[in-house]
Amino acid sequence: MKQIGLGLMGLGNIGIGTWKTLEMNGETIKKNTGIDFKFVKILEKNVDAKRDIDVDKKLFTDDPQDLFNNDDIDVVIELLGGIEPAASFMLEALNNGKHVVTANKAAVAANYDKLLESAEKNNVMFRYEASVGGGIPILNPLLTVLRGNEIESIMGILNGTTNYILTQMTDFGLDFDAVLKTAQEKGFAEADPTADVEGIDVANKLSILMAIAFDKYVKPQEIKTTGITGITKQDIENAKSKGAKIKLVAGAKKLANGELEYEVGPMEIADDHPLASVSNEFNAVFLKGNAVDELMFYGKGAGPLPTGSAVVGDLIDIAQRI
Ligand code: HSE
Repeated sequence: MKQIGLGLMGLGNIGIGTWKTLEMNGETIKKNTGIDFKFVKILEKNVDAKRDIDVDKKLFTDDPQDLFNNDDIDVVIELLGGIEPAASFMLEALNNGKHVVTANKAAVAANYDKLLESAEKNNVMFRYEASVGGGIPILNPLLTVLRGNEIESIMGILNGTTNYILTQMTDFGLDFDAVLKTAQEKGFAEADPTADVEGIDVANKLSILMAIAFDKYVKPQEIKTTGITGITKQDIENAKSKGAKIKLVAGAKKLANGELEYEVGPMEIADDHPLASVSNEFNAVFLKGNAVDELMFYGKGAGPLPTGSAVVGDLIDIAQRI
């Protein structure tokens, strides 16, 4: 049995989802892979928060050095959210020889080059599948089985909160604010949902996707981004009358001259396009490769367990290579 020690940073929604995924499937993972994951330390100030998991309080610390300098920890899982201090903590963990797994799109998109270079320099692994599309495997396929393609275009619905809001407004005529509140209660929305509704979260994800799919890192703030706060019930009705739905779409396309065209914004998607059937917190990535042609990846883009699934997948991948 291979024992892998985990240092977890952040026991919020996604931290709990990761804990539960390992609790639910730990025995199966052990049986199938011979890997036994163990939480060694948890960086979390809010020790007494109500959580429906049973965590030994001795695991909690408020000092990140307890993770970076701990010989029993092989992999640091960063689930704090936000750019800082998360990015600095990940860099310090990598510099201390720890492998790192994260779901944090904001920190990865803002520091993509730095994080990858640091992992390479320190000869450790850095994985971030959960940062784009929640539970949907999209980054790893692009890095492995799709590597033989030139990707020509990508269209993605990459934010569960806004897709949930637009779906509920379209299908049930509900009000924006009430639906946003439900999305927050379901654990889809960011701590500050401005990042969701203004499209910033999608720009972060598109930045990461483009870096992998087109080998071109574009900072999120360089991506033209429009959110959904300006979308009215009338806009939705107008789209309906044309046989279309309004979706917040991340688009990127390689032009004939080799330049990349990219944008995030609300779009009318015709009802017969595969992306029109992606509802609620579901996400999808529709892409075209020059060999494989059209592909669509579909699944839950937000929520504790779907995101926990992607985090645990990265943990297993790392553990198998250690
Ligand atoms: N707030 C994000 C969303 C979480 O709604 O998609 C997953 O990245």
